[in-house]
Amino acid sequence: MDHHDHVALIRAAVRPGETWADLGSGDGAFTLALAELLGADGAIVSVDRDGGALTEQQRRIEAAFPAVAVRYVAADFRRALELPPLDGFVMANSLHFVPPPDQVPVLARLVSALRDGGRVVVVEYDAESGNRWVPHPIAARRWPAVAEAAGLAEPREIGRRPSRFLGAIYSGVAYRGVR
Ligand SMILES: C[S@@+](CC[C@H](N)C(=O)[O-])C[C@H]1O[C@@H](n2cnc3c(N)ncnc32)[C@H](O)[C@@H]1O
Repeated sequence: MDHHDHVALIRAAVRPGETWADLGSGDGAFTLALAELLGADGAIVSVDRDGGALTEQQRRIEAAFPAVAVRYVAADFRRALELPPLDGFVMANSLHFVPPPDQVPVLARLVSALRDGGRVVVVEYDAESGNRWVPHPIAARRWPAVAEAAGLAEPREIGRRPSRFLGAIYSGVAYRGVR
């Protein structure tokens, strides 16, 4: 997957000028995609517990999208985060590190940072069982139940890419409150 794939996976959920978070942002693949879609009037909070990854990500974003305001936060998204009111957040290949009994409560707490009508986008492997690199994937057929249990509405798939690793990657969106 390249930058164009990352953009395509989240494009349907993101509007220019909004405020988004990327939770478990790593090297910033989806932070870069958000930066392109949000543009210079947008704002991003990029959260990862790996401070080294955030430093590298900051270098890439400042080179590619210097006009976009990005705040880098080294933190664990399972704990309380100081977030502004968000139009949306992305969790790309990060919620699968949370064991299934905790996925819904973790997501539900993060949803409270969304404005009414705000969106959650997950990017996940469409796999029923995990491995040591992707311990707890959320298969596409499970996304609606996970989203609704976390208090979100209208869950649906908005993108998909084939993957040599675990078959396919999909993106799912769901909304807080009424759209
Ligand atoms: C596989 S990488 C995905 C990075 C990026 N989102 C992407 O899709 O390319 C997973 C990232 O999630 C981060 N992560 C996992 N659990 C986390 C947690 N509880 N809090 C913050 N970051 C976490 C890891 O440090 C890692 O950078």
